Amino acid sequence: MLISKTASFALFSSLALGAPNRSSDRSRHCVIPSSNGSADDSPAVARTFAQCASDSVIVFKEGVDYNIFQPIRAVNLSNVEIQVYGNLHLPQNITAIQRIVNDTSGSLYSDGLYWFEFAGPSVDYIGSANVNSGWINSYGQAWWDANPTNGTGTAARPHLMSFDTTHGSLKYFKSRKPIAWNVQLLGDDITVSHAFIDAESTGSFPFNTDGFDVTATNVQISDSVIYNGDDAIAVQSGSHNVVFERNTIGYQSHGMSIGSLGEDQTEPANVTNIRFEDNTVINAVYAARFKSWVGGQGLAKNITWKNIRVYNVTFPIFVTQTYTNQGSSETQLGGGSTSGRPNNSSVIMEDFTWSDFTGTVNTWRPGDGSCVSDPCWYNEGLPNLKHTEAIIVECNTETSCRNFAVNNIQVIPQSMAEPTVVCLNATAKLNPDLGFNCRNGTYLPQAN
Ligand SMILES: *[C@@H]1O[C@H](CO)[C@@H](O)[C@H](O)[C@H]1NC(C)=O
Ligand SMILES: *[C@@H]1O[C@H](CO)[C@@H](O)[C@H](O)[C@H]1NC(C)=O
Ligand SMILES: *[C@@H]1O[C@H](CO)[C@@H](O)[C@H](O)[C@H]1NC(C)=O
Ligand SMILES: *[C@@H]1O[C@H](CO)[C@@H](O)[C@H](O)[C@H]1NC(C)=O
Ligand SMILES: *[C@@H]1O[C@H](CO)[C@@H](O)[C@H](O)[C@H]1NC(C)=O
Ligand SMILES: *[C@@H]1O[C@H](CO)[C@@H](O)[C@H](O)[C@H]1NC(C)=O
Ligand SMILES: *[C@@H]1O[C@H](CO)[C@@H](O)[C@H](O)[C@H]1NC(C)=O
Ligand SMILES: *[C@@H]1O[C@H](CO)[C@@H](O)[C@H](O)[C@H]1NC(C)=O
Ligand SMILES: *[C@@H]1O[C@H](CO)[C@@H](O)[C@H](O)[C@H]1NC(C)=O
Ligand SMILES: *[C@@H]1O[C@H](CO)[C@@H](O)[C@H](O)[C@H]1NC(C)=O
Ligand SMILES: *[C@@H]1O[C@H](CO)[C@@H](O)[C@H](O)[C@H]1NC(C)=O
Ligand SMILES: *[C@@H]1O[C@H](CO)[C@@H](O)[C@H](O)[C@H]1NC(C)=O
Repeated sequence: MLISKTASFALFSSLALGAPNRSSDRSRHCVIPSSNGSADDSPAVARTFAQCASDSVIVFKEGVDYNIFQPIRAVNLSNVEIQVYGNLHLPQNITAIQRIVNDTSGSLYSDGLYWFEFAGPSVDYIGSANVNSGWINSYGQAWWDANPTNGTGTAARPHLMSFDTTHGSLKYFKSRKPIAWNVQLLGDDITVSHAFIDAESTGSFPFNTDGFDVTATNVQISDSVIYNGDDAIAVQSGSHNVVFERNTIGYQSHGMSIGSLGEDQTEPANVTNIRFEDNTVINAVYAARFKSWVGGQGLAKNITWKNIRVYNVTFPIFVTQTYTNQGSSETQLGGGSTSGRPNNSSVIMEDFTWSDFTGTVNTWRPGDGSCVSDPCWYNEGLPNLKHTEAIIVECNTETSCRNFAVNNIQVIPQSMAEPTVVCLNATAKLNPDLGFNCRNGTYLPQAN
């Protein structure tokens, strides 16, 4: 790592002035009492978070079970370390949770209810290094199985956690059978490491079990395992300087995604400087994925997927600028408006790189259990799939994709046929280093 002269001087002077370090400021130590039984511990949890909202260490004790039967909203934190050493349990009763969601959504929350909502500067969430402790058990299996035939998820599901901080971290975050979305990251300067998300189902498909939804800047997510049924990471508009590295993702994953962007046509989408590097992707629908809505606007720039290992992945590299959301009534005309906005614009993609991929394309059993329509949402607009496609790039217009570079893609279909590409509108003029001819057919790499 390079340390600039200014940075090392600043570090030196803060030490010289004897500024206390951050953890030494956390002078209060607040251990949350638990019934360790069947009673609801959430009042005690809420009380502790209120009493120890600043300069504190808040502890969920190791070896103890906590029943979190009501949502925890701690949005006034400052310089707090949350030690999750015990195991946490959400209610197992779907109706009880739905009642809470139905009563609170819309009033406090624009994006649905979050069961845990943490906000404030310098919040560190530290789980247990012991693999058997520090789990949040959400009992999602019952929710997944309650999903009606061809539905895309049971109604009134809460998100698990919103984590909104500056200069904060999440380490050893562990989620077992989340009901749906896991963590929404908001804010700036957040380090996530050694997270473990397990949404493997023994029954129906675990819809919308996103790992990390990122709307934040200067974020690093590393050394984590995410087994789920939607995006492992979805980098959303307003995100800049995000790194996702050394992670293993899979099960029915929908990959390492940018987007979806541009759903609301009135809001320009911005995403810049994103790197996905040194990740392993197993049995997923997508590995590297970009999705934006036709009619959106804005810019996604300087985005790289590098050193990616794919095993049995249906679409290793995938770009669509004509995304829609299965099972939702959302249209390209976001924000409730139905007229007066253009539908021929696109979120511009610029300076995109895909390099050093190895592994296999899923030829034999493509797709996953999220298919509830004909054609499946992931096959829409792709009538002639052979499941030998290593790369699919669909640009909305001849000017919406610029400066793409694809190199060293060593990805082989399970059928051992030649890998193929589907490519629309990534013109040679604007993409001189594309690395192959933008047309449908066999993937023939060219030096770039
Ligand atoms: C920060 O302060 C705590 C408590 O005084 C101490 O245990 C720890 O070693 C300090 N850390 C550093 C990096 O100085
Ligand atoms: C909490 O309950 C578990 C299981 O009933 C038990 O093994 C453990 O010893 C209890 N811990 C405490 C601190 O009471
Ligand atoms: C947040 O903390 C501030 C200052 O400590 C206090 O004035 C305010 O009432 C708190 N807000 C909430 C929602 O707890
Ligand atoms: C589940 O919760 C609902 C609503 O609170 C309640 O009416 C019902 O009795 C609960 N079911 C069980 C099995 O506890
Ligand atoms: C909550 O709302 C959803 C969607 O409107 C509905 O399907 C469900 O039955 C409601 N549940 C309860 C307990 O009110
Ligand atoms: C994106 O950038 C535009 C132009 O700089 C700005 O108006 C807009 O607010 C930004 N949107 C987000 C979500 O950051
Ligand atoms: C592109 O993004 C990377 C992070 O992935 C960053 O290190 C680099 O400085 C960015 N390049 C430019 C020209 O901003
Ligand atoms: C490949 O992935 C598909 C879809 O997830 C799955 O059904 C199949 O069992 C996987 N094949 C292997 C060999 O793991
Ligand atoms: C796009 O807008 C044009 C003009 O308003 C309209 O005729 C067309 O149906 C729209 N296309 C879609 C896919 O909504
Ligand atoms: C579910 O969707 C499939 C594919 O579109 C369709 O064939 C089937 O009839 C649907 N089943 C029900 C119960 O709607
Ligand atoms: C390439 O394949 C796509 C997807 O199947 C299709 O929409 C497009 O028309 C094809 N292009 C050509 C030139 O055949
Ligand atoms: C390519 O872009 C042009 C507009 O620039 C559009 O008319 C055309 O439909 C696009 N082609 C494909 C195959 O999407």
